[in-house]
Formats: sequence, structure tokens, C-alpha cells
Amino acid sequence: MSKITIDLKYTEEFLPEKSLELWSSSVSSAYKILTDKSGRGNDFLGWLDLPEKSMGQLPEILQVSQELAAELEAIVVIGIGGSYLGARAAIDSLTSPLGIGRPGPEILYAGHHLVGKYYIDLLAYLKGKRWGIVVVSKSGTTTEPAIAFRILKNALESEVGQPVASKRIIAITDEKKGALRKLSAQLGYKTFTIPDDIGGRYSVLTPVGLIPIALAGFSVESMLHGARDMMNAPENNQSLTSDPVARYTAVRNALYNQGKRTEVLCSFNPELHYVAEWWKQLFGESEGKEGKGIFPAVAEYTTDLHSMGQYMQEGPRYLFETILTPQNAASDLKIPEDTQDLDGLNFLAGRELAYVNEAACNGTALAHVAGGVPVIRILFDRVDENSLGSLFYFFEKSCAISGYMLNVNPFDQPGVELYKSNMFKLLKKPGY
Ligand code: PA5
Repeated sequence: MSKITIDLKYTEEFLPEKSLELWSSSVSSAYKILTDKSGRGNDFLGWLDLPEKSMGQLPEILQVSQELAAELEAIVVIGIGGSYLGARAAIDSLTSPLGIGRPGPEILYAGHHLVGKYYIDLLAYLKGKRWGIVVVSKSGTTTEPAIAFRILKNALESEVGQPVASKRIIAITDEKKGALRKLSAQLGYKTFTIPDDIGGRYSVLTPVGLIPIALAGFSVESMLHGARDMMNAPENNQSLTSDPVARYTAVRNALYNQGKRTEVLCSFNPELHYVAEWWKQLFGESEGKEGKGIFPAVAEYTTDLHSMGQYMQEGPRYLFETILTPQNAASDLKIPEDTQDLDGLNFLAGRELAYVNEAACNGTALAHVAGGVPVIRILFDRVDENSLGSLFYFFEKSCAISGYMLNVNPFDQPGVELYKSNMFKLLKKPGY
């Protein structure tokens, strides 16, 4: 069973463990609002039971994805925001950066921006390959994925003809509403539903995340088990010492209350890049409203120590860091001995890179603490499907409780609409 631990030794100087207890009752009240389903946005709590509910959908998810994956070399997943980041977080962190040993077809992404050159290159790359599309949009009307789908669907249909193209397209959308639902019915796409009571950023454990992850060849069953372990963990007792959700939620809100307005999620594992991007969207869209909310930022160490390190060490002190660390590497390499030792690295000969990375992590934490930046450490087992399932559920729950502590609705995003209506006016969309 994969376990998540919140290590607070690097926050002690700013927030002694004892004083964290002062946050116990406000965490408990917010926790209760969530579990009683009595808070704002309580019609969007379907994600709470997903680790169980999605198990029932597994046979269909596996059958459809295995059949399509066996036929195709590449699959373009189209979506933006919550309809994209969860799948990318899992697939990117589980796939070798060079694509070596990839268990399924290559997964490419589209619909998350509006740049023509990208689509020109993507279509050129796909030419001559057997490829298909997974299009994800709850509303079915979001501009970026809708444009991407129009471009890619046209290309696929002109390459293989409409009937074959339709067999290579999966649509994941609202049960009844939206253009994508209508089009799928007309053209006979295989469809999956995004439940009404689940918003985009809480949807990774629905077909929105599970279909692309299964197509990529990873075990969605193990991911759901990890999430279920987190959902049913004996530690879910709201104790600020043993319940990781309560502990993380309490410490970040206590630091926010001390004026630490920005949380930088960092890791020393570049494979977690999109996990951090997923986290950023989850917390940013859930908390940032009514003039409140911790600003979620991300950094990737040690790379960013050579770009953001100076700011982290000596910039304005309204920051705290949360370092996400897998405790076990999937594989590792030892630093070789060198007879000449001109680079002076023989003192590390025979040591694995993870040993050096952990020293870099602790060295950074000590330096940043000395520079006035509290550092939370979130430790988990390893980068695999099971741990990712636990992490997804852990962060979703913590985010919902944090939102209730701030007294905002963690499940809406009214502020995302204004840019769209301005853009539509400028583009002269009928009705705007
Ligand atoms: O989290 C959210 O709700 C948003 O990020 C949406 O997922 C995003 O805007 C895409 O919306 P849709 O799935 O309707 O295309």
C-alpha cells in the first residue's frame, strides 16, 4: 500500500509543530463540511467515491483501450485544463523521457493552445502512421480543443475515410449536452461520459484520465487501487500528526495566514513536471477567488536552482515551498570511478545518483529555510500507477478542504469566463 508522509522538519522554525494544533478545529470543520456534503459546490462531489465507482467501469475501459491500442501507433489526446492535465501527468511521469520501453502507442497532445505551427508539425509527424484521436471536453464547446478536433478529424478522415476514422475516435464528454455529444451520435464514435457531479480538475479518475492512461499501456487498475487506499486509509482521522491530508492542509493554511501567499511545488524529479502542472491547475482554479487563495507556482530542481534559486533564496519572503519526493527510484546508476579524478568526483564513486539528488534536496531545503522560506516535504513511495492514484486523491481532498477553510466554492471557476467572452467579441462570434 502506498503511503504519503508529510515531513515538517523544515517548517518547524516558522511554525512549531505544537502551534499547528491551533489549526485543528478549523481543519476539522472544513473536513466535516466536505464529508457531510454540506458546503458550497456540493453538487460537484462525485469525485469522492470515484476510486470505487470507476472500478465498475474498468472492464469496458480496458476492453476499448486495449482494442484501439493494438491497432494504432499513435494517439492524439485532445483537451485543455482539467480535461487534459491529469492524463498527461500520469502518462508523462510513467513514460521514459526518451520513449524507451513504452508499453503502448505513442501519446501526443493537442487542444491545449492555439498555435498553427504546432498543428502543421503534428500532422507532418502523423503522416504515414496509424493514428487515432481521444477528444475530451465536458462542455463539448471549449474553443481550443474544438478547433484542434476539427483540424485533426479532417486530416484523419481524408487519410483513411470517414468510416475508418470514426472507429479510431473516442469522445469523452457530457452525457447529453454539447456539440461533441451530438457529433459522436451522428458519426458513431465510441463515447464515455464525464459525470455531471465531477468538474474537469477532479476528473482524472474518470474516463477523462483513465482512457488515455490505459491506451498508453499503464495500469489504471493499480491507479484506482492507490486512490482507494488513500480514500480508505486508517489514517483518515483528521489528526494533524497522522492524517496526511489534514496535516498538509493545516500547514499550508497556517503559512498562508503568516503572509506566505505563494506555494511553490517543487520536485527533484523532472518526470513529475506534469504532476506539478496538474496540481497547479487543481489548486489555482479551486482556491483563487473572492480575493483569496494561495498562489500555486511550480519549480523543477535541480534545473531551476540555476534559474530560480537566487529568487528563492533572497527574493521577497512571501513564499513557501512544498517538495514532492518519491522515496524509491525505479532504477538508478552508480557514478563511476576515474583513475585520473581530474573532476574531483571520486569521493562520489560508487554512489547512486539518487544519493546525490537527496543531498541536493536537503541542502536546498536547509538553504531556503535559512533564507526565510519554510519547506514542506511530501514523501511518497515511487513514481508508479499506485502511488500516483494515491497522490491524485490526496491532493484533491486537501484542495477541497483548503477551499472550505478559505470559505470559497472549491468547485467552480467563474473567473475563467471573461477571457472567453472578450475573445469571442474580438473574433465576432455570433451572439457576442
Ligand atoms: O477544471 C476545469 O473545469 C477546467 O479546466 C476545464 O476542464 C477546462 O476548461 C476544459 O473544459 P471542457 O472539458 O468543458 O472542454
